[in-house]
Amino acid sequence: MSKIKDPSLKEAGRLKVEWARTRMPVLMQLKQSYEKEKPLKGFVIGGGLHVTKETAVLAEALQAAGAEFSLAASNPLSTQDDVAAFLVSEGIDVYAWRGMSKDEYYWAIEQVAEKNPDIIVDDGGDLTLVMLQKGKKPLGGCEETTTGIVRARAMASQGKLTFPLMAVNDAETKWDFDNVYGTGQSALDGIIRATNVLLAGKTVVVSGYGHVGRGIANRARGMGAEVVVTEVSAIRALRARMDGFRVTNMIEAAPIGDIFITATGDKAVIREEHFKLMKDGAILANAGHFNVEIDVNALESLAKAKKEIRPNNVEYDLGGKKLYLIAEGRLVNLAAAEGHPSEVMDMSFANQFLSVLYLKENGKKLAPGVYTIPKEQDEQVALLKLKSMGITIDTLTDEQVKYLTGFEEGT
Ligand code: ADE
Repeated sequence: MSKIKDPSLKEAGRLKVEWARTRMPVLMQLKQSYEKEKPLKGFVIGGGLHVTKETAVLAEALQAAGAEFSLAASNPLSTQDDVAAFLVSEGIDVYAWRGMSKDEYYWAIEQVAEKNPDIIVDDGGDLTLVMLQKGKKPLGGCEETTTGIVRARAMASQGKLTFPLMAVNDAETKWDFDNVYGTGQSALDGIIRATNVLLAGKTVVVSGYGHVGRGIANRARGMGAEVVVTEVSAIRALRARMDGFRVTNMIEAAPIGDIFITATGDKAVIREEHFKLMKDGAILANAGHFNVEIDVNALESLAKAKKEIRPNNVEYDLGGKKLYLIAEGRLVNLAAAEGHPSEVMDMSFANQFLSVLYLKENGKKLAPGVYTIPKEQDEQVALLKLKSMGITIDTLTDEQVKYLTGFEEGT
C-alpha cells in the first residue's frame, strides 16, 4: 500500500539507483556483510527521508538485513518520483511525491507512523514529532540532520522525548563531510540548474557559517565569486573572517549581493527590510532544512506580479526591480537538484545503517534522550571509506603510543 506519483517511472528510477550503488561502496559493503545473517529480521523500520537514489540504496541495505522498511517524504519538494516508483517495485511502501501539499505531507508521515515502527530513521524531526503526538514508542530513532537534532534536544529538554534518538548528524563522518562538501556542492548545483548563472564575478551572500554555510562559501569562492558572510555568532563570524571572507550584517549585505543563500536553521533571516534594499536581478535561495529562512510571505506582499521564468525559478516583480526566488525557498539542493552526491551520502547512510543496528542491540537499555554516535562507529566508517578510495594511513608505533599516553617526556 503506497501512494506515489506514477509507478511506470520505475525503470528510470532503477537506472538512477544502479548508478548510486556504484558510488556508495561503504554502504554496499555493510549491506553485503549483513545480508546473510539478517539481524533486522522481523523489525519494522519507518523512514522520513528525502526520496532520492541514495536513500534507495539505504532502503535496499536495510531490506537486505531483514527489515521491513517503509518511507515517507522528508520535504514536499524533494521526492524523485522515478526513485519512488522503483522502491515500490522492490516491495517498499512509499508515501511520497514531488509537489505534495502540507496536508498530504503530514498524511504520508502518519502512514509510516501507523505501521508502529520499531526504529525510525528521520531527517528533520517531523516523523519523530508525529510518532510522539500519536503516543508511539519505538525502540529508538536515528536523526539525519542538524535541524532534527536541534528539535530533538528541545523535545528532550522539555521532557517530551519518550525514546532514545541517535544523533547521526553529529557523527564526524557525517557532518564534517555531508554538511560541508555535500551541501557546498549540491546547493550551488541547485542554483545553477535553476538559473545557469555565472558565479565568477558575482557577490554571493552566505547567511550562517556553520558546517553548511562554510561548505557553500568555500565552493562559491572556488568558482570565482566574492563571498560575504552574515552571522549571529561572534565565534563563527570570526572564523569566517579568518577564513578570508568579508563579514557583515544582512542590512549591509542586502544592497551588494547578487545571490543570497541562507544556511542558518532559523526563520526570517532575509525579510522585508532586506528585500527592499536588494539590487534588481538578485537571486534568493535557501539551503537550510525548512522553508522559513527567506520570508516568502513578505516577498509575496511586496510583489506586484510574479511568474515562473524557468523551472524552480520564480520572478517577483517589485516594481522597479525583480527578485528571483529558487525552489520556493525550500532546500535548494534537493528541490532544484538531486541532493548531495552519492559519494558523501555513502558515509551519512552508513552511519544511519550502523545506528539502526546499534539501537537494535542497545535500544532497550537506553533512557529517552539524544545520544551521540559511538566513536568506534565513526572510525569504522572513515576507515571503510578510505579503503574504498585506495588510501592507506599510518598506524602508531609502540613508542608513539607510549609517548601519547605518558607525560614524563618533554623537550
Ligand atoms: N540529504 C541531502 N542530500 C540527500 C540525498 N542525496 N539523499 C537523501 N537525503 C539527502
